[in-house]
Amino acid sequence: MGVFSSTDATATGHEQVVFCQDKPTGLKAIIGIYSTALGPALGGTRFYPYESEEAALHDVLELSRGMAYKNALADLDLGGGKAVIWGDPEQIKSEALLRAYGRFIQSLGGRYYTACDVGTYVSDMDIVARETRYVTGRSVEHGGAGDSSVLTAWGVFQGMRAAAEHQWGSPTLAGRRVGIAGLGKVGKHLTKHLLDDGAAVVATDVNDRARGWVRNTYPQVDLVTDAAELVGADIDVYAPCALGGALNDETVAVLRAKIVAGAANNQLAHPGIEKVLADRGVLYAPDYVINAGGVIQVADEIEGFNFERAKLRATRIFDTTREILRLADAEGVPPAVAADRLAERRMAEIGRLRSIRLG
Ligand SMILES: NC(=O)c1ccc[n+]([C@@H]2O[C@H](COP(=O)([O-])OP(=O)(O)OC[C@H]3O[C@@H](n4cnc5c(N)ncnc54)[C@H](O)[C@@H]3O)[C@@H](O)[C@H]2O)c1
Repeated sequence: MGVFSSTDATATGHEQVVFCQDKPTGLKAIIGIYSTALGPALGGTRFYPYESEEAALHDVLELSRGMAYKNALADLDLGGGKAVIWGDPEQIKSEALLRAYGRFIQSLGGRYYTACDVGTYVSDMDIVARETRYVTGRSVEHGGAGDSSVLTAWGVFQGMRAAAEHQWGSPTLAGRRVGIAGLGKVGKHLTKHLLDDGAAVVATDVNDRARGWVRNTYPQVDLVTDAAELVGADIDVYAPCALGGALNDETVAVLRAKIVAGAANNQLAHPGIEKVLADRGVLYAPDYVINAGGVIQVADEIEGFNFERAKLRATRIFDTTREILRLADAEGVPPAVAADRLAERRMAEIGRLRSIRLG
């Protein structure tokens, strides 16, 4: 999954790709709908100053495909989609631009639901929601699910527990040393879950404020200089919670952890890294499986948000991860490959049911 380089939507198997433009506000958006086999496509809106339209298109195609796999394994009745707004949010984000964007989403009649992503926030979704019903990730005051990092971190913790059980026989991180790279919204919540479970945490962040926060809040957490030092440190679990591409040839070669389980999207820097990890005896809990708590949280909003119901569903990431690791062993493939197979199976088996006429 996520291993392709084409910017040709038909070659990547997308159902629909929509280009949207509103010249007065400077809105240029691309909505990618990879699959609606399981239901309306759900995925956030990335607002980012891409270098070119081709780069924006490439990103939306890759991200929307990834969402189809993530939503399928999160047990949601939702397909996969994503959108990008091409431009610098600091320069061009405005009420009018967001509302124009909302009208384009509305025009798709519910084939695509949006949410937050890099460069967009719950306050933006509140504005988008003034023009379309097909938006999640709104603020709590507007009936939304609020900050999705809460259940993202909870789901990552559950996936990590399942990996610990697979690797060491017991579903707990107690007595283990976990290295977290990135103490942002997810990393902070994850730190708490791990400390509560009895793990020792060692962490790093490039941001002084994030480092200061952990020093004040959890003085027992060891801080190291950077991700390179963390990867080479004596840790049992590595949790990438910053940017993508954390697992590359250099990091995997020096990694001492026996489990990788973190929140960051697209952790595998290139195809084949999953095999190198497996050959080195490192258990990789696939990123899109264990970081699905956030999409579970915002998807719940479609039915009228209920935190406990969403948390229950995010807790099941433990069972899904366990099943993937079992399947990987049974089929003799890395967990990343087993996860893709399971997602494709659900999309085919459940998606097929729509061919049964309802009258
Ligand atoms: N928030 C969610 O609900 C959610 C859901 C799914 C996946 N994710 C992914 O999880 C990751 C973290 O998300 P977040 O919401 O916490 O983001 P965030 O922006 O709040 O936090 C990221 C943190 O990583 C730090 N960072 C950046 N580069 C770093 C580096 N080289 N070394 C160490 N630290 C570095 C930043 O300073 C920041 O504190 C992202 O990759 C995101 O795409 C988030």
